[in-house]
Amino acid sequence: MSRPDSTGAPGTTVRVPAKVNVQLAVGGRRPDGFHDLANVFLAVGLYDEVTATPADALTLTCTGPDADQVPLDDTNLAARAARALAARHGLDPAVHLHIAKDIPVAGGMAGGSADAAGALLACDTLWGTGATQDELLAICAELGSDVPFSLVGGAALGRGRGELLEPLPVGGTFHWVFAVADGGLSTPAVYKECDRLRDASGTGATTADIPDPEPSPALLAALRTGDPAALAAALDNDLQAAALSLRPSLAATLAAGTDAGALAALVSGSGPTTAFLAADADQADRVATALRASGTCRTARTAAGPVAGARVVANG
Ligand code: C5P
Repeated sequence: MSRPDSTGAPGTTVRVPAKVNVQLAVGGRRPDGFHDLANVFLAVGLYDEVTATPADALTLTCTGPDADQVPLDDTNLAARAARALAARHGLDPAVHLHIAKDIPVAGGMAGGSADAAGALLACDTLWGTGATQDELLAICAELGSDVPFSLVGGAALGRGRGELLEPLPVGGTFHWVFAVADGGLSTPAVYKECDRLRDASGTGATTADIPDPEPSPALLAALRTGDPAALAAALDNDLQAAALSLRPSLAATLAAGTDAGALAALVSGSGPTTAFLAADADQADRVATALRASGTCRTARTAAGPVAGARVVANG
């Protein structure tokens, strides 16, 4: 189906999901400033759509409830993705990118990474560059630690700084509620606070002081069997203390969700979005309603996962 943009030109639209980290084990700070991770990603059904249409030069627009918080300059990861692909193939990045944004901005759900993966796949399709999956993944890894996962989706273990992916089997669908906070949190600031808390506690924040992060066998088994109660017991995020330290009000949001019957609650990635695992879709709806009424968050959304990664949904 043809999906013209506002200029009437034909375009390619890619739909990309958000993620939640069901385990985020953070190792020591490396000499390059990044942290080694055991990062268990699950793609969930909240989506951004990126549409690429031919244009005279690289331009960017964004719509959606939080569109005013999205930078539309060269720092935008979607624009950087288009430039990176064009540079590799000796092309002029003459494209208009439109982001229809539904993933919370700066919320710890990889919205910026989703837009980068979406722009990459949309431009590859529009320009017929025919990049292999490995080439796309390599460009994704240059753009950001979470971008490769946005491309592949499903569930995966991310090693290194999160970019080295191993797909994980999942035996069912998990039902989630996401409480969206007012304002974002800066990912580098949250990692820095994690280091500061470790230094302050005498643990030390470098790789020399902290053992290699490893995925939890109980968590991997819970994903394999699709058992929400077992997954709830195994959820873990080493960045949670840092996010709560920077945004103490998140404790009230976490409590409101568990009081409403969620099986478990945690900060999503570097926050400030908080994630609540429910036993089923009905319970997720009840928890979302209670969270919206609690006054502890801006809004609450339900989404299930795993879902597929970046996909072309319209072309031509
Ligand atoms: O890779 P990405 O651009 O998403 O990372 C943003 C920031 O988050 C990095 O500059 C770094 O401060 C922090 N980070 C980290 N260790 C990781 C991933 C991100 O310290 N594994």
